[in-house]
Amino acid sequence: MLKVEHITTGYGKKQVLTDVSFSVDKGDVVLLSGGNGSGKSTVLKTIYGLLKPWAADGKVFFEERNITALPVSEMIRLGIVYMPQKKNVFEDFTVEENLLTSAGIYPKKEAEERVQKVFYMLPVLKNMRKRTPFNMSGGERQLLAFGNVLVHSPKLALLDEPFAGVDAGNSEVFKGCIVDLKKEGVTFVVVEHKRQLLEGVVGREVELELGEVKR
Ligand SMILES: Nc1ncnc2c1ncn2[C@@H]1O[C@H](COP(=O)(O)OP(=O)(O)O)[C@@H](O)[C@H]1O
Ligand SMILES: [Mg+2]
Repeated sequence: MLKVEHITTGYGKKQVLTDVSFSVDKGDVVLLSGGNGSGKSTVLKTIYGLLKPWAADGKVFFEERNITALPVSEMIRLGIVYMPQKKNVFEDFTVEENLLTSAGIYPKKEAEERVQKVFYMLPVLKNMRKRTPFNMSGGERQLLAFGNVLVHSPKLALLDEPFAGVDAGNSEVFKGCIVDLKKEGVTFVVVEHKRQLLEGVVGREVELELGEVKR
């Protein structure tokens, strides 16, 4: 359902990725692994259209459609949603306001229904709905960031180190949520160092080394 082809790109003049290609099947959870600075986040940003491939043969296909460097609004409309590694929540808004803001692109009633659905999937967020990220642990913030993704009912979720700072209990909740969605056919590309957290869930693994696919 996702094909990444010949991606060479970077920041300014600095090249980070070299000819990165891989494909992802529908309903799979693909682990994107590799050392610090190997280009994992850059791959997710390129899939999401935040960075452009440098060469004409660098392309990203989603469900057979060329989605290379589409605007974010279009990505979300297609069902592709990205959870950045940093700055992934609205700091000054409560949990509920965060979710409503993320859902703000939908009509009001639908937005409220979408938020209720996220609360149903992640009751831990419902219990925190009046709190702001300022008063939440790193792991709680990550769950909120995931909620901000789920609000869009993604077909393809791009998650950058979602488990960072998440405690054991919430990691189980998180994993359970991913397992349930996978069963419904949702596809994930996940950057994660602690691979044991996704044990039994991951299908394909793509390992990067210095911006190239190692295997
Ligand atoms: N915004 C940026 N501007 C310039 N260089 C960047 C930027 N983001 C990342 N880099 C560089 O790109 C390389 C890959 O970074 P990144 O994709 O974040 O790696 P990873 O997620 O695997 O740790 C690193 O050398 C990093 O310093
Ligand atoms: Mg990274």
